[in-house]
Amino acid sequence: MSQLAAQLRARIETEGPISVEAWMNACLADPDHGYYMTRDPLGRAGDFTTAPEISQMFGELLGLWAGVVWQQIGGPSKVHLIEIGPGRGTLMKDTLRALRGVPGVMDALDVHMVETSPTLTKAQQNSLKDTPCNVTWHTDLATVPQGPVIFLANEFLDALPIRQYIRSDGGWYERVVTLSGDQFVFGLGERVDDSVIPEKFRAASDGSIYEDAPIVQVAVQNIAHRVASDGGAALIVDYGYAENVLGETLQALSKHAYADPLDCPGENDLTAHVNFADVKVGAEAAGARVWGPIEQGTLLERLGIAARAASLLANATKDQAQDIATARRRLVDHDAMGRLFKVIALTPLESAAPPAFETVR
Ligand SMILES: C[S@@+](CC[C@H](N)C(=O)[O-])C[C@H]1O[C@@H](n2cnc3c(N)ncnc32)[C@H](O)[C@@H]1O
Repeated sequence: MSQLAAQLRARIETEGPISVEAWMNACLADPDHGYYMTRDPLGRAGDFTTAPEISQMFGELLGLWAGVVWQQIGGPSKVHLIEIGPGRGTLMKDTLRALRGVPGVMDALDVHMVETSPTLTKAQQNSLKDTPCNVTWHTDLATVPQGPVIFLANEFLDALPIRQYIRSDGGWYERVVTLSGDQFVFGLGERVDDSVIPEKFRAASDGSIYEDAPIVQVAVQNIAHRVASDGGAALIVDYGYAENVLGETLQALSKHAYADPLDCPGENDLTAHVNFADVKVGAEAAGARVWGPIEQGTLLERLGIAARAASLLANATKDQAQDIATARRRLVDHDAMGRLFKVIALTPLESAAPPAFETVR
């Protein structure tokens, strides 16, 4: 049994069952044994791959988005370019390469990486070691100085803990993790007030699961509040659903295959789909205007992935050409990442539509 499994077992024996949120929090963020604290999980040799790791085109197109936003807000002489949950730093590296093509912006940029993982912070420092920009690392957004902001966040929200509620015998209960012999198992916790569940789901059949994510709400509200008060915009990309739904989305990944979320705590990636309906409500409550969600495929098409792929293909070998075409399909196609991944932009209330969101509210 791993040290984290032993700790969680002792905790449940002493305190009783723990919420799914507390389980995820321990598995992902325990300072000594949490998944993100101890490893670099990205890429072929890791547990999962993300859009910036699939192709440089993703970060470059987001870089152009950031450059146009900077122009839209009047090209201020200082702007904080902030990435939250930056993985290996690949997205920021590609973003900064594309931004070099936008006259004047490199002199204005202060880059901020908000990251809690010491291992990934080192990877990011390595990725960005040759950048001419001033880069600062933070473990919390609160230490990023005031001033106009451009946020990028790819697959950050899905890495935050969620809560689950389960319907049983005509009531709703918090879903918890408990012990059955040596095994961690799901169980029923305290009964919750029905008001916690959206009205349309309250009378769902027994066994139904509803998820919410107060930690995601806090993260989104902090971003939205900064955008609304300091000016600028945020681009948030993640997999999830645009309308409230019932059902379980908590999942574990190990070596690119699904695993049991209660097996090997701290060893597997745990994620949940993002509820963009809730995210929108939270961001609006914090004073921002929310654009979208639109699909990732739509975003990348509108930002010019066809042109970027064509220019890369012009100098590519046969093998490289194949990789570029495959990566483009993975990022854009509906049966790959193009539809499941959604994108919202946040701006102050009075701002013009950011790039790629011109035709949506
Ligand atoms: C799924 S990875 C995505 C990495 C990267 N954005 C990409 O697309 O390749 C999630 C990232 O969020 C970071 N993270 C998790 N919880 C965090 C938190 N509370 N604050 C900041 N970063 C966090 C992880 O360490 C990791 O860098």
